[in-house]
Amino acid sequence: MGERPRLAYDGRALDCLIRFLPSQCSIRVPTGTNLLEAARLAGLLLADDGCGGWGTCSRCVVRIVEGGEGVAAESEGEKEAKRSNGIEQDLRFACFISLDQDLTVTTPCGEADRSAAPLFEA
Ligand code: FES
Repeated sequence: MGERPRLAYDGRALDCLIRFLPSQCSIRVPTGTNLLEAARLAGLLLADDGCGGWGTCSRCVVRIVEGGEGVAAESEGEKEAKRSNGIEQDLRFACFISLDQDLTVTTPCGEADRSAAPLFEA
């Protein structure tokens, strides 16, 4: 018996399983999806009224709990944004992360609000 076909979003396979802690909210998204966008699709507001992903508000910071070994290193833009916002070294800006594997993240300030019905769930 073959593997069950995956659902597709916008014609692309949902090949990255993203889990948000402590809510345990999970979502599958296509490779290349931005982590901030994945949170939004899951109904989580990591950066409500933030900068919209421009790296200036620092409201989207997350700590990678699992799966971070394959995440691209911080760009110079992210490093500068962290420096100018006084962000701890082990935190990452969700708006700078392009997903290409399963990942578990948590928010340093606790629970991100589950603000809306998720568009997709794992
Ligand atoms: S959304 Fe503002 S820094 Fe990421």
